[in-house]
Amino acid sequence: MATKTTKRTQASADIGVFGLGVMGQNLILNIADHGYTVSAHSAVSKEVTGFARKIKADAEPSADRVLGISNLKDFIKSLKRPRKIIILVPAGRVTDLVIDSLTPLLQKDDIIIDSGNAQWTDTIRRENALAKKNIHFVGNGVSGGETGARFGPSLMMGGSKHAWRSLKPIWTAIAAKVDRKTGKPYEDASPGKPVKGGEACTTHVGPDGAGHYVKMVHNGIEYIDMQLICEAYMLMKTVLGMKPDEMGKVFTRWNKGVLDSFLIEITADILKQRDPANKKNFFVDKVLDTAGQKGTGKWTAINALDMGIPANAIAEAVFARCISAIKDERVIASKKLKGPKKRYTGSKPALVKAIHDALYCSKICAYAQGFQLMAEAQNEYNWKLNFGKIAKIFRGGCIIRAGFLQKITQAYEKNPKLQNLMLDPYFKKALHDGQRNWRKVAALAAEHGVPTPAFMSALSYFDGYRTAVLPANLLQAQRDYFGAHTYERTDKKRGQFFHIDWPEPGRPQLKM
Ligand code: 6PG
Repeated sequence: MATKTTKRTQASADIGVFGLGVMGQNLILNIADHGYTVSAHSAVSKEVTGFARKIKADAEPSADRVLGISNLKDFIKSLKRPRKIIILVPAGRVTDLVIDSLTPLLQKDDIIIDSGNAQWTDTIRRENALAKKNIHFVGNGVSGGETGARFGPSLMMGGSKHAWRSLKPIWTAIAAKVDRKTGKPYEDASPGKPVKGGEACTTHVGPDGAGHYVKMVHNGIEYIDMQLICEAYMLMKTVLGMKPDEMGKVFTRWNKGVLDSFLIEITADILKQRDPANKKNFFVDKVLDTAGQKGTGKWTAINALDMGIPANAIAEAVFARCISAIKDERVIASKKLKGPKKRYTGSKPALVKAIHDALYCSKICAYAQGFQLMAEAQNEYNWKLNFGKIAKIFRGGCIIRAGFLQKITQAYEKNPKLQNLMLDPYFKKALHDGQRNWRKVAALAAEHGVPTPAFMSALSYFDGYRTAVLPANLLQAQRDYFGAHTYERTDKKRGQFFHIDWPEPGRPQLKM
């Protein structure tokens, strides 16, 4: 890696990366592994030299194609035109500051690509502002964590078609690859040896904030996916008294069936892992039960509420992290608030199978909610999202990659206007087949006092969605009673509103 601006660095780089955190560093090496020259820059010059030292020490095969440049003007000069600059810096104010520092140095048709987890509304604002200066701004959702960035992430690109045409060759090269027919990810990349062939997990999702929006929903699904797995673990641990390694084997088995996914796979690994501090203990038992969150799940839940989309399971997954975070309060309450003292005496394999089915059915609901959100957002923001393509790029590289995304892809390819994933014949059958066990698990959790908000809210979603007449008739009557909010009638056409002059509470009932 060259660390100074030399003649060689004059407009010789195919792309630049501003921000040398974990994601930035790994993305740079991934791009370089595909034969592109990358300029690496950070506002902290120590990070540039540190990165140069690191890739030398690690004998990174593509280190020669990485130019470390501490001076911002030299960094810009090092890029071929139209310049492509990926920024990977903290979302919010820092992103705006970085954009402000770059803009005066850029020219017509240059492209700034924000690859952090930015809020899509910020991306829309930034895209509008930069379009006025003839600079393309791309909101690029990146999923897959450190390993994904290094060997193939899922890339959700949002921005102009012009920008997509410029970025497509690099994006297609560096994204995760899946088998065209089966949708199974290729996972055998290593430094300097990226995978060849297959279908790239990247697409032009839509204009302005569409890429970041889809990434946010990906994260909302990630939250609920993780929470569902945790609830399955909690039930096996508390109701069946299973040890982590035994549960690990169950997850390994599940990973060979319909639940096959990255999150199930890593759960199996985690449960089998011993504590490095004392090999007698299981690692998971030593991890404090308080979950952190950076905000993308919360944004998804807030947006669901804003748009009026019933993504209750996704929201529950966020709240589950919130309740986990009040550890001290829970410890005190655990000594004061009593629950049932019930022992499970049924068959262990039968309950494990029931938990499997509850997890699978809930997962279908979670994805259905995520896709419902995207369907509504496209109306709100005038995007034309292709759900088949979105499901396709979730099949590899990203955190929620799972075998059943191939089925989601097929569902939307068959019917791009599918109203709800649960109505697709494949998923409808899966829900019909699994719901008996799903209900059994929800009832058992309630009877045993085991918190399973994700299983239960997903089940409520399923039941709510399939119920033609909900009790909202009574609710609407209540609204009309206390606030003259009016109501529609079952025996009149929709859109006509009525009101009754209700008596004051406690006064005699109206005479009709
Ligand atoms: C991904 C992840 C990633 C996310 C982390 C942490 O797709 O690679 O979604 O973008 O930032 O998983 O998220 P939380 O801290 O909110 O759990």
